Amino acid sequence: MQKKNNLITYVYLETSNVCNLDCVYCNRRNVVKTPTYMSLKQWDIVLEKLSIYPISEAKLMGLGEPFFHPDFHNICKNFKGIFPNAFTITATNCQYQLNDNFIKTLPYIDILYLSIDGYEENYERFRPKASWDKLIKFLDDLTKLDRGKTRITINYVVNNMNYKDIEKIHKMVLSKYNYIEEVRLNIAQWWSEDEECNMDSISKELINTLIKYKKNVKGKSPWTFSECFWPIRGFYMDVYGNVKICCLNTSTEPIGNIFESNIEEIRLSSKLLQVRKECNNDTPGLHCRKCDYKRLSPILAPIFTLNTAEI
Ligand SMILES: C[S@@+](CC[C@H](N)C(=O)[O-])C[C@H]1O[C@@H](n2cnc3c(N)ncnc32)[C@H](O)[C@@H]1O
Ligand code: SF4
Ligand code: SF4
Repeated sequence: MQKKNNLITYVYLETSNVCNLDCVYCNRRNVVKTPTYMSLKQWDIVLEKLSIYPISEAKLMGLGEPFFHPDFHNICKNFKGIFPNAFTITATNCQYQLNDNFIKTLPYIDILYLSIDGYEENYERFRPKASWDKLIKFLDDLTKLDRGKTRITINYVVNNMNYKDIEKIHKMVLSKYNYIEEVRLNIAQWWSEDEECNMDSISKELINTLIKYKKNVKGKSPWTFSECFWPIRGFYMDVYGNVKICCLNTSTEPIGNIFESNIEEIRLSSKLLQVRKECNNDTPGLHCRKCDYKRLSPILAPIFTLNTAEI
């Protein structure tokens, strides 16, 4: 019998892992072998199986461009049909012509992240195959669109070179795109097992810049394994229906497949029970020891507690 406080409340669901970019800090290239979409028939099975849980928040995305799913509007509509009160989030790389699928999806999304991490050359440098001009066209087209109640933010992955452009992006938003409510700043993470982020080390200048923008910086500090909600009430599924423990370790072996087993069976897997125990005791094993929540916690600490002059 499932204990009430073990029920799934947060889901991260991938329905497409197709992408047109190869961003420097994205581990998609290591994880995705066969780019594909989930069919609506399969999606209905997923929703039916999840429908018994009190899901309050959902990220409808994964290692791909969500809006490349030709039926993404129906993916999101059907999700909201089952979970009308769940808060939905998705992200887009803005590297396509704004289309009908996008327009029809917006009403089912509570927050949309526009992934922009750098200005002009830096944007193109860290998002290979992306074009700055295409991005600006997308943002301009979005200005003209009825965005309804969907909140729109920029999600900016910060590294040792692009932090200098944070100010330029803020200025651009203020001068041209007042529908963008925030520039969220996330220090680059690495989402693979037993591997560390290979971006440059974190410089003092980067930290100083983030202190200036501390209200926009995301992440938790202090943080330790026993605070991790994922093994208790989180659920991560890739486009093939493989269930993993969290989005911070996407290269790990799955704990089951949603099309082959029922969710409670999957959640009784010895691997999940072990990760739960290890997190609870603050003794991370293979799955968690390179977790970037933990790596970033001491890096974020001075950002949240100091002023620029103190560093
Ligand atoms: C994996 S992407 C999928 C959605 C879409 N393809 C995009 O780029 O917006 C989801 C979000 O994760 C961010 N992201 C990718 N790699 C990251 C990393 N190493 N650390 C932190 N965020 C990352 C992206 O910038 C994007 O905002
Ligand atoms: S666009 Fe998104 S999914 Fe594609 S490579 Fe970049 S971060 Fe990864
Ligand atoms: S790697 Fe472990 S500690 Fe980190 S988010 Fe995943 S389950 Fe939690």
